[in-house]
Amino acid sequence: MSKKAVTLTIFSIVSAIMLLWLFLPPTIAVSGVVSDSSEAVERGEYLVIAGGCISCHRGQTEQTNESLAGGLGLETEFGTFYAPNITPDSATGIGSWKAEDFIRALKHGRQPSGGFYFPSFPYRAYSKLSEEDVLSMAAYLMSLEPVTYRVPESETPLWLARWMIAGWNKLADLSMPSDEVYGDELIERGAYLARHLGHCGECHTPRNRLGIPDYSREFAGAELGDEIIEPIDGEALEEWTTNNFDIFLLLGLKPDGEFVGGDMNEVIEHNTSKLTDEDRDALAAFFTRHNSAGG
Ligand code: HEC
Ligand code: HEC
Repeated sequence: MSKKAVTLTIFSIVSAIMLLWLFLPPTIAVSGVVSDSSEAVERGEYLVIAGGCISCHRGQTEQTNESLAGGLGLETEFGTFYAPNITPDSATGIGSWKAEDFIRALKHGRQPSGGFYFPSFPYRAYSKLSEEDVLSMAAYLMSLEPVTYRVPESETPLWLARWMIAGWNKLADLSMPSDEVYGDELIERGAYLARHLGHCGECHTPRNRLGIPDYSREFAGAELGDEIIEPIDGEALEEWTTNNFDIFLLLGLKPDGEFVGGDMNEVIEHNTSKLTDEDRDALAAFFTRHNSAGG
């Protein structure tokens, strides 16, 4: 073989391996229909609240606003993305989904067909949810009343295609640190809620120009469109006691006596104010762990 042919062969093999690495579907251990046990449904209902799913997926019309029929347009610098209908309607929702489809979507950001979701769906944060938690949420979603409502297609710039997210996902994987071990059950639970289920970092962690969170500045605040999102890292919360934070999660009231505004209102209303006392305490303990406990 000539030198050129050897180079070409090596190039082709490397390219094929790269493509496989980028596009390989995730291996998923569970399969089959989603459980309809009342225990799973009940657990799932709580997790859907704690996961903030309602803020994005709540219906936007008078007929659908009590349901998770979707339709909210999330405006980002990469386009407008509409939160889908996640009620079990077969034609316009997730009525035909199996257990593996929920794991694939929430933990891997992949569609049932293997295609890629856009990261306006916070699947990066959800990637470390336990399978049990995802399957319980699935059980709850499948127990809901189906609502027929077709949400609009996402509006993205011409250059942006779903397959490009394959590369984005790998870059995001490489920059995601492994979770710290705190050796304290309450703080570990708080970290799980803050980083994963409650996805606080989706808004509060700054991103690079590709929109990938900069984990070296986790919770250091960000700008989302023209909204300023305050930092909630150790330094920013130096003056907050665990008790201050607990009250904030329940009422949106800050230690300086001001009520929080903007998108955080939604988070308080639909998510943190409805957490169990234990989970609110866990979040408060996690965020104020550098400060003197109590208060
Ligand atoms: C920040 C807003 C946001 C939050 C919070 C959110 N989602 Fe979504 N979700 C989206 C968007 C946007 C998409 C569609 C992304 C796309 O078009 O690629 C989506 C897609 C989905 C899909 C795929 C539906 C389909 O028809 O393909 C499921 C299932 C889903 N979300 C469930 C959930 C659950 C469960 C939660 C809570 C644990 C949740 N989402 C939280 C915005 C959100
Ligand atoms: C959808 C985006 C979004 C998510 C998700 C989010 N936040 Fe916020 N948060 C905001 C915005 C925006 C503000 C600033 C609101 C304002 O202008 O008053 C804020 C403010 C705050 C503040 C007040 C900071 C200060 O010093 O005034 C705290 C504390 C806070 N968030 C904690 C959290 C926690 C904990 C979570 C996860 C459970 C969370 N946030 C998830 C958008 C978000």
